Amino acid sequence: LNYRKAHFVTSAPTLKQCPPDNALEVAFAGRSNAGKSSALNALTGSSKLARTSKTPGRTQLINFFEIEENRYLVDLPGYGYAKVPEAMKIKWQKHLDDYLTNRESLAGVVLLVDIRHPMKEFDRMILQWSIESHMPLHILLTKADKLKSGVGKQALNKLKNEVKEHDQVTVQLFSSLKKTGVTELAHHLDTWLGV
Ligand code: GTP
Ligand code: MG
Repeated sequence: LNYRKAHFVTSAPTLKQCPPDNALEVAFAGRSNAGKSSALNALTGSSKLARTSKTPGRTQLINFFEIEENRYLVDLPGYGYAKVPEAMKIKWQKHLDDYLTNRESLAGVVLLVDIRHPMKEFDRMILQWSIESHMPLHILLTKADKLKSGVGKQALNKLKNEVKEHDQVTVQLFSSLKKTGVTELAHHLDTWLGV
């Protein structure tokens, strides 16, 4: 697919308000500040398609971007942001769970984890859920530019080794800043979005 054709469609606060559930889409999930919105921008070659921020918790809605007819990328709100009030966290967790469990259009999930702090509790929950529900999962070790390349490769191999029995779970290095891994990500999404 030509990810450069991506354009914003809508922001949904809950699953109910999402576009009709009869397309194919890939959701970008991960802890707050992991770099989900930045990765979407790197992939689509647009610096302001998805709003990014130094302040964690920037993305608070389920944002839909259309690539072509019936093919979407979805920017999810980040989880695990400490400064969000507890009640709001619980509410968000519920909407996120609802979307992940009930969205028929979901073809796969891209899980972004900061390469310097890989696989925290919520990341592991998503991994476990993907294994149990047979949902394809592609993990991006993001901000790879923050580590020396040898150290980054070690982190990659360690995680690859951890998920090696699970065929539907894949891992790659990624940097929105340096555009590392953008082509690899695009190829992967192509396989899920049916082209
Ligand atoms: P929420 O919307 O809060 O869940 O965050 P997010 O996961 O969408 O993160 P976002 O893309 O807004 O990026 C968070 C911060 O990390 C911003 O300051 C980005 O500039 C920075 N960042 C994102 N990707 C990279 C990267 O590959 N390398 C470096 N060095 N910084 C990055
Ligand atoms: Mg975001």
